[in-house]
Amino acid sequence: MEFNFKHWVQIFEKNRRMFCPPNWNDHYQLTKEEYQTIYKSIQQFQKGESSDGKKLLAAAERQIHHLEDQSYVKAIKLFIKEEQNHARLLGKFMVKQDIPKLQSHWLDNFFRSLRKTYGIQSYVTVLLTAELIAIIYYQALRKATNSPILIAICNQILSDEEKHIRFQSITLHRLWRHRSSFSIYCRNSVRKILMYSTIWIVWRNHYKVLKAGGYSLTHFAKSVLKEYRKSNKIITLGDRIESTMVSVQ
Ligand SMILES: [Fe+2]
Ligand SMILES: [Fe+2]
Repeated sequence: MEFNFKHWVQIFEKNRRMFCPPNWNDHYQLTKEEYQTIYKSIQQFQKGESSDGKKLLAAAERQIHHLEDQSYVKAIKLFIKEEQNHARLLGKFMVKQDIPKLQSHWLDNFFRSLRKTYGIQSYVTVLLTAELIAIIYYQALRKATNSPILIAICNQILSDEEKHIRFQSITLHRLWRHRSSFSIYCRNSVRKILMYSTIWIVWRNHYKVLKAGGYSLTHFAKSVLKEYRKSNKIITLGDRIESTMVSVQ
């Protein structure tokens, strides 16, 4: 079966219908220790999750010919809405806990400028790198708190990000499928450098949450790289592996 992005439109639409908000009436207040551990970190992640997505959408529309599938644009619109939902959930939680939102952060600005360097390919590469980190970070954050609302938000984000990783991986497979082996090797080398650097930067900035969630630097790096290898498998095998995964949704 030839895979196309209509499947992803269906997955995102189904995910939207199934969305179950956290119980906002819960009155749990973060302890002083929890607050100190997570507040700076959650500020940065909330900032990272929030984007109007206009530039990503414009890049997708401009370069849709590379994907040979018009439904990608619709899928990207739904993907952006999911990311905005993550920012909204974290933002609402922060208001309840008196954690101020960040207007900007150097790390977020750096990743945003990196995304724009090479059109849709760099957008997807940078997003995928961030999502491979997120899948471990939110597991740590979930363990670092007793707040039922924050635990529910982490569960929602983890479930969404697992899909996003597959979505970005299949997109890279599509974008690279007509490239030479040498060109793919070069692109993968750039991905690897970006992945290793991001692991180090995220550890330096978020080690309090990661440690509270039971991760040492080695455990964190190994866990992210395990997810990275899984995504590489989809990037390499593409449609063959993805069509079997989609059929079991
Ligand atoms: Fe997200
Ligand atoms: Fe995501």
